[in-house]
Amino acid sequence: MAKLGIGIVGLRMGYGHFQQCKELPDAELVAVCDINAELVEKTQKEFELPVATTDFDELVASDEVDIVSVTTPDHLHLEQTIKAFEAGKHVLVEKPMARTIEECQEMVDAARKYGKKLMVAQVCRFHKFFEDAHKWAFDGTLGDVYFVETSYIHNYEQIPGFDGWRFDPEKRHVLIGGGCHAIDLARWFGGDVITVSAFSNHFNIPQQQVDDMWILNLQFANDVIGHVTVSAGCQRPYGLDLEVWGSKGTLVGDNTSPSAQMSLRQVDRYRWMELPKASMAKALASEMEHFVDCIVNDKTPLIDGVDGAKTVATAWAAIESSEKGGALVEVQNEF
Ligand SMILES: NC(=O)c1ccc[n+]([C@@H]2O[C@H](COP(=O)([O-])OP(=O)(O)OC[C@H]3O[C@@H](n4cnc5c(N)ncnc54)[C@H](O)[C@@H]3O)[C@@H](O)[C@H]2O)c1
Repeated sequence: MAKLGIGIVGLRMGYGHFQQCKELPDAELVAVCDINAELVEKTQKEFELPVATTDFDELVASDEVDIVSVTTPDHLHLEQTIKAFEAGKHVLVEKPMARTIEECQEMVDAARKYGKKLMVAQVCRFHKFFEDAHKWAFDGTLGDVYFVETSYIHNYEQIPGFDGWRFDPEKRHVLIGGGCHAIDLARWFGGDVITVSAFSNHFNIPQQQVDDMWILNLQFANDVIGHVTVSAGCQRPYGLDLEVWGSKGTLVGDNTSPSAQMSLRQVDRYRWMELPKASMAKALASEMEHFVDCIVNDKTPLIDGVDGAKTVATAWAAIESSEKGGALVEVQNEF
C-alpha cells in the first residue's frame, strides 16, 4: 500500500512535527505551507519535499497530500480545517481544537459531513509517563480513581507568537490555548466534566488582556472530583503536573522531572516509590503514528473532534464561572 502523504501548515510548532515524523511506517511528509517564504524554502531544502508553498489552497489542492496537519495559530484552526475537509483530506489539528464551542461544533460537523478523520493534537496523551499513568489508573493498580489534579504552568511573557497573536483576546484565550493541556489531561483520567467552579486573576503579563491565573474545581461523573491550575504569567519554570488519587494508591508526576512517585496501599507506612520515567522525546511521532493508524484501520482517534470540543467547552464553562464569582456552571458535552 502506498504511504499516506502528510502536509503541514504553520512551520514553527509544525517544524517540530516534521523533525519527529521523518520515519513513519505508513506515512511520509510531502508538503509544507507557511506565509513566511523563508521558512518554506528552508524546510523544503532540508526535507526535499515535492510541495512547498505560501498558499494554503495550493497545499490542500495537492493530490500528494492525504493528511493536513494544521499547526497555525489558534484562530486559523477552524478555517484551515474546513478547507482541508472540503478538499477531501483528513485533519490533525494542533491544540486547542479551536477558540469557541461554536467553532468546535462546525469542525465536528464537517468531519461527519465529509466522512474524514479529525484528531486534536493533545500531545500529552502520547508522553510515555502520562500513558503509563493512564494504564495504572485503569488496570486496577491505583484502585478506583476518585481525585485527579493537573496543572499547566508556562510563562508566556516572551512567547507572544509570530505576530503577537497570543496576546490578542480575539485570537487566543490563556485558559483555552494553554490550559487545554491540563484540562484534557484531567478529562482523560476523570472522564467528562459535568460542572465547573473557577476563579481567576491577573497579576502578570500586562499586555495579556485576559486573566492569566486560573484555578478550576471539577465534578466528573461517578462522584470523581478534580482540580486544574493554569498559569501563563507565573515566576517559575514550565511544567505540566499530574496527580491521580485512587483507592489503592496515589501517583504524582510531571512532564519535566526525571522520575515520578507512586505510593501503594501494600507498601509499609505509605512511602513514596521513585519511578524512573521513559523519554518523552518521540511524543509527536507517536501522535502522528496513532492518527495514521486510525486512518489506515478505520479507528476512532484517541482525541477525536468530539473529545477536543469537550475540552474547549470545559474551559468556557470555567470562564463563565469565574465571571459569575465561582458559580457552578454545567459543561456542554453533546456535540
Ligand atoms: N503541542 C504543543 O505543546 C504546542 C506547542 C506550541 C504550539 N502549539 C500550537 O501550535 C499552533 C502554532 O503555535 P506556534 O507556537 O507554532 O505559533 P508561532 O506564532 O510561533 O508560529 C506560527 C507559524 O504559523 C505561520 N502562519 C501564520 N499564519 C499562517 C497562515 N495563514 N498560513 C500559513 N502559515 C501561517 C507563521 O508564519 C509561523 O511560522 C498553536 O495552535 C499552538 O497552540 C502546540
